[in-house]
Amino acid sequence: MKFLSTSEKQTLNFAKKFAGKLKGGEVLCLVGDLGAGKTAFTKGLAAGLGVKNTVTSPTFVLMKNYKVSGKGIKHLAHIDAYRLEGGAQLLGIGAEDYFGDAECVTVIEWADRVKDIWPKDAIKIEFKIGKGDKREINIR
Ligand SMILES: Nc1ncnc2c1ncn2[C@@H]1O[C@H](COP(=O)(O)OP(=O)(O)OP(=O)(O)O)[C@@H](O)[C@H]1O
Ligand SMILES: [Mg+2]
Repeated sequence: MKFLSTSEKQTLNFAKKFAGKLKGGEVLCLVGDLGAGKTAFTKGLAAGLGVKNTVTSPTFVLMKNYKVSGKGIKHLAHIDAYRLEGGAQLLGIGAEDYFGDAECVTVIEWADRVKDIWPKDAIKIEFKIGKGDKREINIR
């Protein structure tokens, strides 16, 4: 699925709608350059899932866990792999438990850094920066 966004708001809204398709247990692997909109997408996703807290980039803490006030999905795990050189460190903080949790949606920014631990059913979401505020988002 390809989506062409022309503003941050569009990216937020697209992610909000995408959240409605999730059942829990998904691992979303976000790939794209600095400022491509990975965190913006995650904020929209969180809003769509019903996360009440403000989502901020987990760059310094590796992972943040948000409570989801919904039916099936109970939490959103937001990982930032920017500083990593492989997935070992994520396994060290229990990321695999999140991957296997049917009540959790996991989002990994800079997921290309930790390709060695992607689950086989990971959903890759690629962000490409275009002119100005244009962003191409590809999901597969
Ligand atoms: N169409 C768009 N979609 C998303 N963000 C956009 C768009 N157009 C402009 N922007 C701007 O681009 C920036 C995206 O920042 P964001 O933090 O989401 O990127 P990121 O991919 O998470 O970057 P990082 O790799 O630093 O974590 C914001 O400043 C936002 O306002
Ligand atoms: Mg980010």
